[in-house]
Amino acid sequence: MSEHYRFHELFAQLGLPNSAADIAAFLQRHRPLPNDVLLADAPFWDASQAQFIREKKQQDAPEWIQLIDQLSEALREPAPSHSALGATRVLALSGSLRQASFNTALAHAAKALAPQGLQLEVATLHGIPLYDGDLEASQGIPPAVQALKAQILQADALLLVTPEYNNGVPGVFKNAIDWLSRADGKAIFAQRPTGLIGASMGGFGTLSSQTAWLPTLKLLGVRLYSGGSVLVSRAQNAFDAQGALIDAAGQKNLAAYLAGFEEFVLQAQAR
Ligand SMILES: Cc1cc2nc3c(=O)[nH]c(=O)nc-3n(C[C@H](O)[C@H](O)[C@H](O)COP(=O)(O)O)c2cc1C
Repeated sequence: MSEHYRFHELFAQLGLPNSAADIAAFLQRHRPLPNDVLLADAPFWDASQAQFIREKKQQDAPEWIQLIDQLSEALREPAPSHSALGATRVLALSGSLRQASFNTALAHAAKALAPQGLQLEVATLHGIPLYDGDLEASQGIPPAVQALKAQILQADALLLVTPEYNNGVPGVFKNAIDWLSRADGKAIFAQRPTGLIGASMGGFGTLSSQTAWLPTLKLLGVRLYSGGSVLVSRAQNAFDAQGALIDAAGQKNLAAYLAGFEEFVLQAQAR
């Protein structure tokens, strides 16, 4: 029996897939949960899952408490490093909260088209509050920002997937980057190999917003990949209703971009 199988019933109770492989994948995806974030406050639960965990903890419910504590402990362990997995790990961060976002769809397309040696994980900005210096002073860095920081630090590289609003950077995305810059921005961004791609409904495919990101990325000190560009224009025609990238030229360009990006990340690591 796999060491993770003990969580089988708890995962079923939480409405999650609960084979040993599912549980292992869940742990790999969400590790490490920072020590100062309670399990019930982890950003990956929905409201009812968080409530279940919180209630059982408060009630000290004998049938669940041990498993909940063990799951919490298992999630604190560091994620396996890229060398252990034999792959270059990239975190693709979508800058749109929209459920049917073209940019989140583009991030998933990148995952599907990534070369074999590149393991790409998709993250979104859900749960990150508006930056407020008073909130930071009274409560510190919010849990969702800390969790995103942990995801970025686990990866070898960052792929920003940006929408375009009014020829510029979307406030939601900039807000998240601003929060991250307050959560030890140097460790998160300085010298980090970073790619920038995007999709928009207009004819220039985020050309303006990608340009508008440059001063911020320069200040943060990332190593920006400039060997190619992905500007998905008229996104409403490039993706199908399920969010699959159906434009053949777009697929080819994205695959070529990712191959070049992988090379760039490997070279950056070798330096
Ligand atoms: C406030 C706002 C401003 C926009 N400005 C632009 C723009 O300047 N250029 C453009 O191509 N599309 C613009 N759009 C359309 C976006 O490309 C479209 O909403 C797209 O779906 C956003 O990305 P998402 O699908 O990932 O959420 C704008 C949309 C909004 C909501």
